[in-house]
Amino acid sequence: MSMKTNMDYWEFVLKNLPDSYHKWFEEEKKYLQKTITPDAKVLEVGCGDGRSIFDIFPVTKNVTGIDHDDKAIADAKNNFSSYPSIKILKADATKLPFENGEFDFVVCMTTFANFADKRFIILDEMKRVLQNSGKIIISVFSEDALEERMKVYKASGITIKSVENGKVVFDESVGDNISEQFSKEQLEDIFSRANLQIDDITKVNIAYLCTLSK
Ligand SMILES: C[S@@+](CC[C@H](N)C(=O)[O-])C[C@H]1O[C@@H](n2cnc3c(N)ncnc32)[C@H](O)[C@@H]1O
Repeated sequence: MSMKTNMDYWEFVLKNLPDSYHKWFEEEKKYLQKTITPDAKVLEVGCGDGRSIFDIFPVTKNVTGIDHDDKAIADAKNNFSSYPSIKILKADATKLPFENGEFDFVVCMTTFANFADKRFIILDEMKRVLQNSGKIIISVFSEDALEERMKVYKASGITIKSVENGKVVFDESVGDNISEQFSKEQLEDIFSRANLQIDDITKVNIAYLCTLSK
């Protein structure tokens, strides 16, 4: 059985970016830089190796990243070792180790797709650590992403157990083994059930970029 984790596969994706993902990430960067205010205090939930923290750099370096994967934490710590204001912590998104209202922005880039049935607990946690006028920014696969996602999964060699309505289930050995995609209507339903206000949902080819408030 493979010893690779979700993070190893994500690393493969980042090193072999197809055009569709590249365009999506360029749009993410523009969206983050236009939405986040200068020097704001930002939390990234599921930060991986810190790809998006680099995107935020021109706007603020007051950033904390959390991830529950040991390799992600080691890579992110290594990437930001010369930036004392960037804090990287091992934590699970279902139990964020922060006080209420600590952050001006909570961002979650490409990771919401992996939360499966924990998504409402995690949205509640994001909301809890957000200050009252703060914003949550989420980037997640759109309903048009499946073809591009399947190309990437096949190239990476990850073992797929099932694919149904855009929900791809991988072998359990990878850790976070579910990846989903959503229509705008599904996202609106999820966010309103989480009692979040929707400020914006913008479609960029294979993804939606969303801004939410309390
Ligand atoms: C697809 S990667 C995205 C990484 C990074 N945000 C990026 O866009 O490059 C998903 C990351 O979320 C992390 N993750 C998934 N579920 C999590 C949870 N419940 N708590 C903390 N981290 C989680 C994984 O370990 C992985 O590093």
